[in-house]
Amino acid sequence: MKKWLLLAISLMMVFALAACGTAEEASGDGESGKKVLKMATSADYPPFEYKDTAKSDEIIGFDVDLAKALGEKLGYEVQVQDMDFNGLIAALQGKQVDMVMAGMTPTAERKKNVDFTDIYYTAKHMIVSPKGSGIKTVEDLKGKKLGVQLGSIQEGEAEKIAEEVDVTVENRNRIPELVQELKTKRLDAAIIEDTVAKGYFEKDKELEGFTLDTSEEEAGSAIAFQKGSKYTEEFNKALNEMKENGELEKLVVKWFEKETASK
Ligand code: ARG
Repeated sequence: MKKWLLLAISLMMVFALAACGTAEEASGDGESGKKVLKMATSADYPPFEYKDTAKSDEIIGFDVDLAKALGEKLGYEVQVQDMDFNGLIAALQGKQVDMVMAGMTPTAERKKNVDFTDIYYTAKHMIVSPKGSGIKTVEDLKGKKLGVQLGSIQEGEAEKIAEEVDVTVENRNRIPELVQELKTKRLDAAIIEDTVAKGYFEKDKELEGFTLDTSEEEAGSAIAFQKGSKYTEEFNKALNEMKENGELEKLVVKWFEKETASK
C-alpha cells in the first residue's frame, strides 16, 4: 500500500516539475518577462548600427530602434549582439540567434539559407576615395586597389567591376577598417552604401565619392530570420504597419535626415 502511495506521489512530482518547465518557457526568459529574441548585427555601420564609443558601449542606430519598436509591438524583448558581417547568416543557420538586422540586402543567394521580411530601406552603392584621388568613374579604378566589406553585396559588385576593369579587390571585416585604409592610402577606393558613406563624408572632409548607377541590385535592407521561422510573417506584418502609419518614416528622419540637417 505505502509503496504505491510513494510511487504516485513521486509521479505527481515529476509531472508538476515538467509542467513548471514548459510554463517558464512560455512566459519568457527576459527581464521584462517577455520572450527574448536574440538579434545579431554588425555594429560597424553608422547610422544603421554602431557604437558611439565616446559615450558608451551600447549598440545604437536605425536598425536597433526599428528592432526594438517591432519587438515592443509583438511582445518580444530584443537583445542585440555584435559580430562580423560575414558571420551573420551562419549565426542564423546555426540557430545561435533568432534574427539579423544589419542593413542586410535580401539576395537570392542568401534566401537559400535564411528568410527575409520585405525591404524597409533602400540604398545605392558608392565608390568612395580620398579627396583628390581623381577617381570619378569606374574606369578610373584601373590599376587601383578597391576595398569592400567581406561577405557583403559590395564584394559581389567589386567582382563584377573587376571583370571589366583591371582592379585588385581587397576585403576587410569592418567598414571602419576600409575608411581608415582609404585615409592612409593603403586602399585607393572602396564600395560603401551611400547612406553610410555620406555619414563619413560629413565627419571626414578627406573623403569623396560618386554613386554607381548599376541599379539592377539595389542595396535595400530587410530583416533576416531562420529558414521557416514563424517570426518572419509576424515581423513583416508589424513592419508594414509601421510603413503605413508613419512610424518607420519617423525613424528614417531621426537617423538619416539629421545627418544632412547638420551639414
Ligand atoms: N547591404 C549590404 C549587404 O547586405 C551591406 C550591409 C553591411 N552591413 C553592416 N552592418 N556592415 O551586403
